[in-house]
Amino acid sequence: MTISLKVDRKQPSPDTISQAAEIIKSGGLVAFPTETVYGLGADALNPEAVAKIFKAKGRPSDNPLILHVMTLKQARNLVKVNSMAEKLAEKFWPGPLTLVLPAKDTVPSITRGGLETAAVRMPADRVALSLIEHSGTAIAAPSANISGRPSPTDADTVFSEMNGRIDMILDGGSVIVGIESTVIDITNPSRPLLLRPGGMPREEIESVIGVSLERPDSESKKRSPGTRYRHYAPNVAVKIWHKGETLPENSAYIGIDLPENLDREHSVLFDSEEDYARGLFSAMRKLESENVECINLQWPDDDKGICLGLRDRILRSSGEYV
Ligand code: TXA
Ligand code: MG
Repeated sequence: MTISLKVDRKQPSPDTISQAAEIIKSGGLVAFPTETVYGLGADALNPEAVAKIFKAKGRPSDNPLILHVMTLKQARNLVKVNSMAEKLAEKFWPGPLTLVLPAKDTVPSITRGGLETAAVRMPADRVALSLIEHSGTAIAAPSANISGRPSPTDADTVFSEMNGRIDMILDGGSVIVGIESTVIDITNPSRPLLLRPGGMPREEIESVIGVSLERPDSESKKRSPGTRYRHYAPNVAVKIWHKGETLPENSAYIGIDLPENLDREHSVLFDSEEDYARGLFSAMRKLESENVECINLQWPDDDKGICLGLRDRILRSSGEYV
């Protein structure tokens, strides 16, 4: 059985966090909220503990994990921090930005999926930061879902998928961003790569570093194994809906604008792109259980702000790029 403990996101009880930290220290698994999605955490520097993450998620072992830190100083112990990383951390940490940098020997090979680089991020969430602090180590944490499924944005969803597979869930309610962090590879600062669009807008990162982020070519894709697998997929087919189109028969809908033949009973509607991103994964999980033939996702017109990350999740959940 997995223990689930409620925790106040603004003022986490030190008692609750200590209990969770004891589990991390002794090599166990704790799911916890971040501002993006729920993470499935273990001591990043303990190879046996990290192995349990891969097992609990059914995750391919060549897909590396993000190391969550509470200070830039802690990151320096794990990766070689260059001046571009310093600038970005100064501006955007804590926040939904993950930096891929050359790994130091302190990071076990299993945590970085056998790569020479490692990914680090400082989450903007008091529960997450306090858990890292009390554990006295960096916490490796992928999203707390079974591999390939939509990421969990609340604790009940983590429980339904992970009960019996992990030791504890810290239940801090619903997340804020709803899609995962933006992952950039700045190993080579003269050619920074956008590996995964996400919670931190591309244009904001570019305005700080002063150069464009390139999308990885097929060669560098091999270096970010996560981009090779199908992701975020509910149990029914997903189709992309463009404004003005008619919905197929017996299908569900998620989006902002109203299709002419909308079936309101099987729809989840949002007021803004930010709300859409926040609610996309839980909406897919809700509608997949409603006996429909497919789920239609509205394609965002824009690619600024959260929209680029949203587009990426829509494409991936529809199987458009695998
Ligand atoms: O918002 C997030 O980033 C959440 C929360 C829990 O922090 N975490 C998350 O982790 O989304 P995960 O494991 O689901 O996605 C991590 C992504 C994967 O696409 C992985 O391939 C990539 O980061 N990644 C990790 N280390 C890497 C490395 N050394 N080189 C290239 N890509 C890396
Ligand atoms: Mg994930």
